Amino acid sequence: MASNNKLVVLVVTLLLAFLGTVASQPQQKGPYVCFNGWLRLPTLNPQLCRPRPTIQPRRIRPPGQGLSYGYYNNNGSFCPSAERIIRDAVAKAVTANPGMAPGSFVSSSTTASSGYGCDGSVLLTTTASRNSDVEREGPPNKNSLRGFEVIDAAKSAIEKACPGIVSCADVVAFAARDASSVLSNGRINIKMPGGRLDGRESFANETDQLPGPFSNLTQLQSSFSNQGLTSDEMVTLSGAHTIGRGRCAFFSNRFGDMDPAFAAKLRAQCSNTNNFVNQDDVTPNVLDKQYYRNVIDKKVLFNSDAVLNSTETIAQVRQNANGATTWERKFEQAMENMGKIGVKTRGAQGAEIRKVCSRVN
Ligand SMILES: *[C@@H]1O[C@H](CO)[C@@H](O)[C@H](O)[C@H]1NC(C)=O
Ligand SMILES: *[C@@H]1O[C@H](CO)[C@@H](O)[C@H](O)[C@H]1NC(C)=O
Ligand SMILES: *[C@@H]1O[C@H](CO)[C@@H](O)[C@H](O)[C@H]1NC(C)=O
Ligand SMILES: *[C@@H]1O[C@H](CO)[C@@H](O)[C@H](O)[C@H]1NC(C)=O
Repeated sequence: MASNNKLVVLVVTLLLAFLGTVASQPQQKGPYVCFNGWLRLPTLNPQLCRPRPTIQPRRIRPPGQGLSYGYYNNNGSFCPSAERIIRDAVAKAVTANPGMAPGSFVSSSTTASSGYGCDGSVLLTTTASRNSDVEREGPPNKNSLRGFEVIDAAKSAIEKACPGIVSCADVVAFAARDASSVLSNGRINIKMPGGRLDGRESFANETDQLPGPFSNLTQLQSSFSNQGLTSDEMVTLSGAHTIGRGRCAFFSNRFGDMDPAFAAKLRAQCSNTNNFVNQDDVTPNVLDKQYYRNVIDKKVLFNSDAVLNSTETIAQVRQNANGATTWERKFEQAMENMGKIGVKTRGAQGAEIRKVCSRVN
């Protein structure tokens, strides 16, 4: 059981790392909400759940300029084996942990928080400013980013094949795509462009500004809107709560609002508020649309899940729960869009291709 949990954490970390890397718009300064962080939050630190200042909506669509499909097959950035090496590293991490749910992988890569956008800043332990309070050490990420081992393994294999060509930010984005495919048993296939560069800064305080398990609908919508993502995309990406685990402290105030049998089961698992339980009690390790059925059945953990039963969002919840492949297609598109947030591309100031993902060159 313990090693099973460990595997789940690893997989989840990979997916989270990706979501974490998609936080900010490039030219703007200030705290940015990180989706990785958001999806991963409930499993993390209570500090993240304190009230935070409201962020002014920016409503800028992530443009993704400078990104392209098959980027490393062409264009002076020639490393045609890069995507295969990453796919193999993700697959290997799953098979090397027999009994590890493939779901934990994706979930991991979707949950790491980043305040600096899709620039790999979440991976840094040593930055240009030499500060010690990097994002990786921030409350949501500290000790929780074991999926980064997979990123590091892929990156060092790539450096052997083609040194100095492939960014850590792209390794994370491709690994999130591959983990999503593994965890969905091949039903989710994201088209992920490449061409991101790595940033040189990372601050733990930038992970503070995340929507959390106690967020209401307005807060969720404005957090996503600040990143240029729509309310529909917020509902779509919430489906990642179909894998991973949540900490009892973040939902034990709402047993009374849940399906009674579900609440009774959770109460038994939550003798200690630091315990973790599966987010999706039905198919805990598969990236699937079960989450939306759970919203309708009152079998979700967090307030931020339950609020999707509102007049503005319930039609989409029903559509996702009932459509044969509706959600999978929307999730693919939303993940691709998320991968365009806050990217640094060729010509960006203060950007580079890191040699080692945990430190600036
Ligand atoms: C985080 O800390 C850095 C360095 O101390 C500072 O420059 C930055 O403004 C801070 N960010 C926030 C959101 O407080
Ligand atoms: C090459 O880079 C240019 C400019 O960044 C971009 O428009 C083009 O789509 C890229 N082509 C490939 C195959 O990546
Ligand atoms: C959501 O929370 C914010 C901040 O606590 C509050 O101002 C707002 O009224 C809430 N919205 C709803 C619909 O409950
Ligand atoms: C959803 O909201 C409606 C209207 O407020 C309510 O009747 C229903 O019980 C709610 N369902 C869930 C799953 O929360």
